[in-house]
Amino acid sequence: MEENIIFTETERLILRNMVSKDYKDLCKILQDDEVMYAYEGAFRDQEVQNWLDKQMTRYREDGFGLCAVIRKEDGEMIGQCGLTMQEVWGKQVIEIGYLFRKEYWHQGYAIEAARACKEYAFGVLHAKEVFSIIRDNNIPSQNVAKRNGMKPVDMFVKHYRGVDMPHIVFSVKEAGAESKG
Ligand SMILES: CC(C)(COP(=O)(O)OP(=O)(O)OC[C@H]1O[C@@H](n2cnc3c(N)ncnc32)[C@H](O)[C@@H]1OP(=O)(O)O)[C@@H](O)C(=O)NCCC(=O)NCCS
Repeated sequence: MEENIIFTETERLILRNMVSKDYKDLCKILQDDEVMYAYEGAFRDQEVQNWLDKQMTRYREDGFGLCAVIRKEDGEMIGQCGLTMQEVWGKQVIEIGYLFRKEYWHQGYAIEAARACKEYAFGVLHAKEVFSIIRDNNIPSQNVAKRNGMKPVDMFVKHYRGVDMPHIVFSVKEAGAESKG
């Protein structure tokens, strides 16, 4: 039996590890062309399954991955947010990622979840710096990163789904790390 392991929570949201039965709710996010604009469009069924499998591998190997974001008031899975390991400047760093169902945009849910992930990365994982790596044309996502205290620090091109995609590297340092430079 798969357990619902809670990663963190906020006033309105619970972030928990995804389980197999989340596939259908995940499709509502990953198979929506508008949500997946920055990923070159909606995923096919197998791509959704691969995405879910990848998060489960991350939970096992890294101890965290993208989580299901559950709205407390009705138990609805409204999006995904969490921490993943990514490569920046040839080293592994912690990234905050977020993707929400369209009908739950513009209500502050993404920034609420992203802030909680930042607190987890600094407070529990003792990260010195956390990142969000965002496609250059994805302004709503960049706005979440900025509201999360991040600044653009670099750019690089990611090759994904057969397309070259310029990405901006946003980051924020842990308060102590910042004063040390
Ligand atoms: C990125 C994404 C999650 C951002 O969603 P969002 O709705 O813009 O962000 P938030 O949920 O933080 O909501 C912020 C908005 O809610 C408003 N808001 C309303 N109530 C609020 C509250 N209680 N607290 C904070 N903001 C609130 C803010 O003023 C802001 O308004 P704006 O949209 O006019 O700027 C969303 O666009 C998305 O899922 N995109 C597709 C997936 C994607 O590209 N992910 C990123 C990959 S790098």
